[in-house]
Amino acid sequence: MKNKLIEMLKKRRSIRLYTPNKPIKTDVLKTIVDAGRYAPTARGDEPWEFIIVKKKAMLEKLANLTDHGKFIKDAGALIAVYSRETKYYLEDCSAATQNILLAASALGIGTCWVAGDKKKYCQKISIALKTPSKFKLVSLISLGYPKRKNEFKVIQKRPMKEILHTEKF
Ligand SMILES: Cc1cc2nc3c(=O)[nH]c(=O)nc-3n(C[C@H](O)[C@H](O)[C@H](O)COP(=O)(O)O)c2cc1C
Repeated sequence: MKNKLIEMLKKRRSIRLYTPNKPIKTDVLKTIVDAGRYAPTARGDEPWEFIIVKKKAMLEKLANLTDHGKFIKDAGALIAVYSRETKYYLEDCSAATQNILLAASALGIGTCWVAGDKKKYCQKISIALKTPSKFKLVSLISLGYPKRKNEFKVIQKRPMKEILHTEKF
């Protein structure tokens, strides 16, 4: 069965190489964040807060604080997903993060989810972004127009026959 949305989400990739000097318009970034806030949220908490970062100096600073996100320095923008501490903050904000990745992908913008939650560098990121300490960093999302052509493509994943169980494990 073919469906546009399903085709599109299969083509989402982690894209870490961005076209230099091609900024993402703030309106476009807001549209992407707006998609994030429509994620499902346990108990209707909507615990999320989003920070859009576009300034090069801050992108470089954040990149240097991460362990596997050095490419952030060359991104067109970054969205930091923060949360109030609720029982299901991680699930809620992971769902919001995924919505953001998909919305960006639908607009031809490459993204990569860079770990936030559980990382030792969270506190340093929060200090840099002036986020009050009661908020938890869930993810950093780098965004940019892909440098390489045809980045949005289906790649191999664990096959259905390996992961799908019917009626019982
Ligand atoms: C919770 C989480 C944390 C991740 N952290 C990083 C990271 O710090 N750096 C990075 O380059 N990729 C990170 N990724 C992206 C994964 O490496 C990527 O999703 C995985 O390799 C599968 O590739 P795909 O996204 O292209 O399907 C993270 C993904 C998730 C879900």
